[in-house]
Parts: sequence; C-alpha cells; structure tokens
Amino acid sequence: MLDLSTVYLGHKLRNPIVASSSSLTNTPEKVKQLEDAGVGAVSLRSIFEEEIEGEIEGLERQEGHTEAWDYIRSAEMSHGLDEYRQLIKGSKAAVSIPVFASMNAKSSSFWVDHVKVLEDAGADGIELNLSLLPVDYHDTEEKIIRFYIDTVKQVKQRVSVPLAVKIGYYFTSIPSVVDQLHYAGANAVVMFNRFYQVDIDVRKERLSSMSPISAPSDYVIPLRWVMLTYGKTPIDLATSSGVHDGRTVVKMLLAGATVTQVCSTLLKNGVEHLDTMRSELEGWMRENGYSSVDQFRGKLSQKRSNRPKSFERIQYVKTVAAHA
Ligand SMILES: Cc1cc2nc3c(=O)[nH]c(=O)nc-3n(C[C@H](O)[C@H](O)[C@H](O)COP(=O)(O)O)c2cc1C
Repeated sequence: MLDLSTVYLGHKLRNPIVASSSSLTNTPEKVKQLEDAGVGAVSLRSIFEEEIEGEIEGLERQEGHTEAWDYIRSAEMSHGLDEYRQLIKGSKAAVSIPVFASMNAKSSSFWVDHVKVLEDAGADGIELNLSLLPVDYHDTEEKIIRFYIDTVKQVKQRVSVPLAVKIGYYFTSIPSVVDQLHYAGANAVVMFNRFYQVDIDVRKERLSSMSPISAPSDYVIPLRWVMLTYGKTPIDLATSSGVHDGRTVVKMLLAGATVTQVCSTLLKNGVEHLDTMRSELEGWMRENGYSSVDQFRGKLSQKRSNRPKSFERIQYVKTVAAHA
C-alpha cells in the first residue's frame, strides 16, 4: 500500500496534489467534484482587495485595462465578502479535505481588517496572493519586500490559521524572500503566481490579454526555485505553474515540494485527469521502490546534493558544454 499522504499547512493531506485557486474552485459543488476526483486539498478562488473595497467598477472605467481587471473578469468573479464567506462555508460543509481561502492583495491597508472573516467562516488556512508586478520606478526591491513582510505580519496578528504566501518570481533573491517570509510568520510559500501576459491587438490598436492557461514547460521555473530553497528554511513549499501530469508531480517532489498545485491541466482535461496523475505518481513510486512520498521528497534538491556550493553552476556548465 503506497502512502501519498503529506502534511501541508499543518493539515494531513491524502496526497500532495492541491487544486489551485481559480475558477475550478469558485463554487462548493466544484470543490466537491474535486474531492471526489481525488485532490488532497483545495485553494478557493481568490477574493480580491478590489472586491472588498468595491472598486471593481472603477477599475473597469480606467483607460485600457489593468492586469487585475483581466484576472477578475476572466475568473468570472462575483463580488463581496459575504459571497466569499458563503463559498467557504458551503465548501467546508460539502467536503472533508482541507479548504484554504485565498486573498489577492495589492496594498496593506483597509482589507487586512477583513481577513478574520475568512478564518471565522471556517477556512483551514489562508493563501495570500501578494504577487505584485512592480512597474513604478519608485518601487525599489527593498520597498516591495517590506510590503510583503509587513502584510504577512499584520495578517498573522489577526488570524491563527496557517498562512501561505503566493509570490511571483521577480525578485533578485528568491531564497532570501522565502526566508524573510518565514520569519514574518508565513507557514508556506506558493511558487509562483502566473502573471497574465499582456499582448497588443494591432488591428484594433488596443491591449489584449493572452490565455491564462499554462504550458507544460512552465514547470521549470518553480522546479528550479524549489530545488534551491528546499530544506534551507523550515517552511512548506507549494509549486504552482505548469504541473500538467504525474511525472511533473514526481519532479516537484524530488526537488523538495511539499505539495504541487494544479489548475490549467484540470481546466483543459477535466478533473478526471487527477486519476491519471495519481496513477502516474504511484506507478513511478512502485517502479523505483518507494512506499511513501516522504522517502524521496527533496532527494534532488541543492541541500541534498554532494556539491551544494557548485550545484547551479555545474548544471549551467553541463548545458553549455552539451551545446558547444
Ligand atoms: C481561469 C483562472 C483563474 C485563476 N484565478 C486565480 C485566483 O483567483 N487566485 C490566484 O491566486 N490564482 C488564480 N489563478 C492562477 C492559478 O492559481 C495558478 O497559479 C496558475 O494558473 C498556474 O498554475 P497552472 O500552470 O497549474 O495553471 C487562476 C488561473 C486561471 C487559469
């Protein structure tokens, strides 16, 4: 009997595959389908700071449109804290797997006071999406990291459930950010938010957004950073981006992920695809003689490498040499 169980955000999950915050998780009925299909836990679709502040209409009126607006519109979100509270309560009543609430914030201000509502509604943890896309030249790296840290500290003062922070990858030093988030009180880091790519429609001469669905090759970015951060800071590592099959779940676990989140592959292939992913993970474990995921988690991380100091450099030199 294989043991796929994993402890993430203080909860025992039956397996390390978590449904990402998205339109997959925007109703209790869909959350129930995900449980029936076999996920270990779910992150509910985010409530956006703008929803709480009632700014969505304002966003719509802006010139062109912002990334935040695209996100909100594409996820077909309903508005308001009350509805979000019902989403948490309804999902908790429908399933027995852990249900994490998700909040997407762009400023640490008024909305922080509302985060307690998510805990009171029964969320088993909170995922805070703080993935800012820095575009203002006044926003120095130091200022942005300070925003992350201050926000985490403020949220931790208000709630007692575990906290995951979903970040983007535009940092000079991701390991340092992970470490600082841990010291600020975060229990997990989700690597990474997938920024919507903006395009230009040359016929209409206006901005357009590209598909939010990831490509299977996108997994290499979180893979690298999980490999490099695993075991250095006592914090759970969740990956998000490009996990489309069971073999990629295996890769993330070998790199050191506590859990892998999945979204695009389920939107594309249906939630039944979870069965195939789990079978691929189990098949690989049997072939390689593992009976639990804990036996191989982090096996190919930098921390467990024979040459941790030159880990990245060796991979780089090998790649260059192979194509010389
Ligand atoms: C339609 C759609 C809606 C999404 N909504 C949210 C959201 O509400 N909050 C959030 O943090 N991420 C959201 N995401 C991002 C996903 O959670 C995930 O990070 C991203 O899709 C990368 O994972 P994937 O490659 O498995 O799709 C959304 C993604 C899609 C495709």
